[in-house]
Amino acid sequence: MQTHEIIKRFREHFENAGHKYVPSASLLLDDPNLLFVNAGMVPFKPYFLGEAPPPAPRMTSIQKCVRTPDIDEVGKTTRHNTFFQMAGNFSFGDYFKEDAIRLAWELVTKPQSDGGYGLDPERIWVTVYLDDDEAADLWQKVAGLPPERIQRRDIEDNYWSMGVPGPCGPCSEIYYDRGPAFGEEGGPVVDEDRYLEIWNLVFMQNVRGEGGAKRDYPILGELPDKNIDTGMGVERVAMLLQDVDNVYETDLVRTVITKAEQLSGREYGANETDDVRFRVIADHARSGVLLVGDGVTPGNEARGYVLRRLLRRIVRSARLLGVTEPVLTRFAEVVRDAMGPSYPELVSGFARIEQVLKAEEDTFLRTLDAGSRIFETAAAEVKSDGRATLPGDKAFQLHDTYGFPLDLTLEMAAEAGLTVDEDGFRKLMAEQRARAKADAAGKKTGHGDQTVYRELLELGGTEFTGYTELASEATLRGIVSGGKRVKSAREGDIVEVVLDRTPLYAESGGQESDAGTIVTANAELEVVDVQKVARKLWVHQVRVLSGEIAEGEHVEARVDPEWRVGARQGHSGTHVVHAALRQVLGPSALQSGSYNKPGYLRLDFAWTGGLSEEARSEIEEVSNLAVRKDLPVKVVYTDMGGAQEMGAVALFGETYDETVRVVEIGGPWSRELCGGTHVEHSSQIGPITVIGESSVGSGVRRLEAYVGIEAFKYLAQERALVQNVAALLKVPDAEVPARVEALVERLRVAEKELEKVKAAQLVANAGSLAEQALDVRGVALVALQLPEGTSGADVRTIAGEVRNRLGDKPGVVGLFAPDGDKVSFVVATTSAARDLGLAAGKLVPAFAPAVGGRGGGKPDLAQGGGTNPGGIGDAVTALRTEVDRALEQR
Ligand code: ALA
Repeated sequence: MQTHEIIKRFREHFENAGHKYVPSASLLLDDPNLLFVNAGMVPFKPYFLGEAPPPAPRMTSIQKCVRTPDIDEVGKTTRHNTFFQMAGNFSFGDYFKEDAIRLAWELVTKPQSDGGYGLDPERIWVTVYLDDDEAADLWQKVAGLPPERIQRRDIEDNYWSMGVPGPCGPCSEIYYDRGPAFGEEGGPVVDEDRYLEIWNLVFMQNVRGEGGAKRDYPILGELPDKNIDTGMGVERVAMLLQDVDNVYETDLVRTVITKAEQLSGREYGANETDDVRFRVIADHARSGVLLVGDGVTPGNEARGYVLRRLLRRIVRSARLLGVTEPVLTRFAEVVRDAMGPSYPELVSGFARIEQVLKAEEDTFLRTLDAGSRIFETAAAEVKSDGRATLPGDKAFQLHDTYGFPLDLTLEMAAEAGLTVDEDGFRKLMAEQRARAKADAAGKKTGHGDQTVYRELLELGGTEFTGYTELASEATLRGIVSGGKRVKSAREGDIVEVVLDRTPLYAESGGQESDAGTIVTANAELEVVDVQKVARKLWVHQVRVLSGEIAEGEHVEARVDPEWRVGARQGHSGTHVVHAALRQVLGPSALQSGSYNKPGYLRLDFAWTGGLSEEARSEIEEVSNLAVRKDLPVKVVYTDMGGAQEMGAVALFGETYDETVRVVEIGGPWSRELCGGTHVEHSSQIGPITVIGESSVGSGVRRLEAYVGIEAFKYLAQERALVQNVAALLKVPDAEVPARVEALVERLRVAEKELEKVKAAQLVANAGSLAEQALDVRGVALVALQLPEGTSGADVRTIAGEVRNRLGDKPGVVGLFAPDGDKVSFVVATTSAARDLGLAAGKLVPAFAPAVGGRGGGKPDLAQGGGTNPGGIGDAVTALRTEVDRALEQR
């Protein structure tokens, strides 16, 4: 049975049992505990935690998931995937254990002709939590499983929580016996390779407290409403139903291996070493492409770092299979064709995916060459020291700077007859990972302990009134200070307040939060920031300007109208620039992030290489033409399917809320899913001026612009600047460029003249310097300090001239010039001096340390520099002593 059919049957089975189906959420959800969505239940967390009401009491989904902690196992075992699909059914206080067991059992064992998977019931084993007698009894009652095929396991294996305080509970796993050829008898507790886990049923019946993820947390009690969360491994079921040995050989993954066979001319199955490489490619191609599809770009931190590692392992594995040409986009095509039916964003966003992959592969191939040279130098050093182990910090440097995966370094080391200090490497890696994680988590706000907000959410979410009004009457639901509920606050306090309704926009979708005030009968608060917690609660950070506030009070929340005018211009301007960008550069220039506030906007988009001057002005022109056309701005509420049909640009991290909001400017010209505040007609945006374009990482560019009055101010300032310059030059504005050009040319000519004059002067001065020669045992020594700032080149010219003046006599010239905190010096000798054994280069070491420097050169001329101008006097003396000493020794 093909994977798409397995998915389809899952969905139908649970839809028929009254579940609401929702499409997979993005791999990137705003969850500080997770880099990527790693289980089907992640998008449902707010419903399990009671932060938001579920759209339906029973739901089902097939969720794309990425898990990378076991990346090094990929390809070596039968079942480790960094990308997989988790099919799940969820109940929010609706059905519980008995139905969860029954529904799973039916689907797994129902004959294929009846829409099930038709797995042999005799080969199914299950595990339950130690004391979960209820589950063990139900497996006998509902499924007729004999007690010997129901095994008990402890908290490590059969208890599940979300890693945070809240719902948790025992779980029960379903295993399939692949037969004696795959391992020992005795059920999953004995051998998890032979007995393959296909489905995990979590019975959320308890509440846990603070603590870690695994076992170190207290169970606080029972949940009043019990929940179900299950996850079936789609690839594992495919492996069984397609009768293949491992997940990499299932239909949707195997196609990548086939492509790699074509490109390399080698065959899968011929030897284990190559097979591991084929499987690594197949697995990583899927996770890599799906991650890029959801908006991750390769980088050196957090998500981007994981992606980079996956992609580079593909390229390297392909190289080891003998493929030297670029491969990433070739594999991406195969992944798109296999996965596109389930994830249409891979098809619609393919041009962008290709661009990101191509840029990353180009970069890596370049660093691969540079890194190989670094490796060779390091390996040679280790060997010449008589050692056999490459230090961990070298391996780490190769990894960090050149993106070398450890296995690449290991392989290259083995080829060179060396081992690698892997422990040292891993220690450095762990440190770096911890930094990256702390960094990623630190960037988020309002995600600390959310217990206090959960409590407030129980009173209901905040109603946002700001689309239609700028001031709203409201009730003060709660005051939070330092993460704790407080009853009141007074003048000077900075606290957070939650209202039942508010017109103040909370920062989201790139739009900065509104500025405004909250007033009561006897207090005034300035709103400093507004953030959404759990998507439903508006948390206002405020400063109490005067008076005192108390929970439960009646308030009026007011948006600063001036601010809002600017905010609307900024956000609509962002949509306009985005549409113009796509019109000029093509649809692959998809926005990957944005920020806007009154007067300013910034847009990050997928693009490699800089924008040409023409492209930049064209984007600006298209934007301003759209403003002039006075396009109507319309807001349409629909569902995700409706939005997709309208061709609305969905941005990353969107979840499938029931209703989505589409903002269109000029009908189809610009359509985006967006919750922001917008103008009513494009002309209200005012002028748009692009002020800069820059790179913000591989394959991502940033465009910045001013809008509205800020754009006008910027242009006015530029005009004033030109007028100033014109006034200084005493020409009309239009003649400024020609005038500046002429001035630059005149300056160049003048500088050249000046050089000539200076050179003549130096030559003229040389005579007077030569006259200051001291006699040292019959040798004329000119050792002097030149004026501050004399350049190194000039010092050299002067030294040459002075030497000429000394003629045929034995003579040594040593000149020093201070320049700020530096010194330059030159020593020159006449040929008669050299006959006496005085070589310029040999004299340098005697005095250079005095000026904190080094230098050297030939017998006739030596030159150098130092960092201690205060030592010039000492250096002069040292030079004289050295000449004297050298002559005495003759
Ligand atoms: N949430 C459960 C898991 O990931 C089903 O295993």
